[in-house]
Amino acid sequence: MAMTIDATSKSGTAPSVRFPTRRLGHANIYVSDRDRAFAFYNGICGFDMVGHSKSSYFLSNGNSHHDFGLNGSGTNEPRYGADGTLKSVANYRGPGTLNHLGWETANQAALVEAYRRALDADIRIQRSLYHGGSHALYLFDPDGVYHEFYADATLEWRKIFSGGDASSVTEGWDPLAQPADPTPYWDPKPVWVAVDKAPIAPRRISRAVVYVSDVVKLIAFYRDVGGLDLMYLARDKSYAYLRGSARQSGFDLCLLEAEHADQVGTYGVAAELADEDAVSRAEAALARTGIAPGRRFDDARKRSFFLTDPDQVPIEFFVERTADYEALGRVDSALRRYAA
Ligand SMILES: [Fe+2]
Repeated sequence: MAMTIDATSKSGTAPSVRFPTRRLGHANIYVSDRDRAFAFYNGICGFDMVGHSKSSYFLSNGNSHHDFGLNGSGTNEPRYGADGTLKSVANYRGPGTLNHLGWETANQAALVEAYRRALDADIRIQRSLYHGGSHALYLFDPDGVYHEFYADATLEWRKIFSGGDASSVTEGWDPLAQPADPTPYWDPKPVWVAVDKAPIAPRRISRAVVYVSDVVKLIAFYRDVGGLDLMYLARDKSYAYLRGSARQSGFDLCLLEAEHADQVGTYGVAAELADEDAVSRAEAALARTGIAPGRRFDDARKRSFFLTDPDQVPIEFFVERTADYEALGRVDSALRRYAA
């Protein structure tokens, strides 16, 4: 990847900006064909449509305003919001790559405090936007992977993402222009929905795996800037696990050392199911529809299976049993993106 924008301070040390990150909120991904991707993520994976824009579909089963943004723009041409705000930056690396990962933070006031620390540390915030239901800051990690740190502004996100056009809700946001709201708006008791006839009924995406150029360097970003807690760093520094303050499961993010430059930024996501019965039901329903899952895991750590999306990105459907961070060290590096 050519783009390298370092989100560390000019002194070269990672400052303790610590965005107040709770958990992985969504993956906004570039897809080659938006309708084909929707047929997969909705019709098979079971994520419900909550809204769309000119280039994207947004999907969620109640966890948040969206777990997936399927971005079919297929170009790095700049896009502009209703008020003329620049919406996209040149981070397009082709279908099957991340536009950005969205990280849910505790509340707007805490996010703005972290924004002030980021300014003090000369960290480059690419854009700051109000999406109608959330305030969001965007920045690159040292590998050029794009991240959004957002604070929800309402529990009533379904009034914004109500199945229709959500493209006009975004406008510019000056984080310092007015007093920031300290109210937490993440929903402690989501109302779960499922997609009729879809073989899988996931609740939410809750984990991502990302290949990085240098695990230690990226830990400095994700921990000191991103505000995730480091749960484990392998002794040989070939992988690490990090987690947000919501402690939803053993980890939100697994960093894997890339084995070649082209692999940097490659990602996978994992969707959590309600319980092991839901995994069994999904496997049986997939079998009835003639879809054979890829890799399966049924061990002390997790029960899960994988599907591959139309752009060849693996998506895991899982239930965690126990967190065992050391176990990945015993897995061949080529298989770690699945075994994480
Ligand atoms: Fe986003």
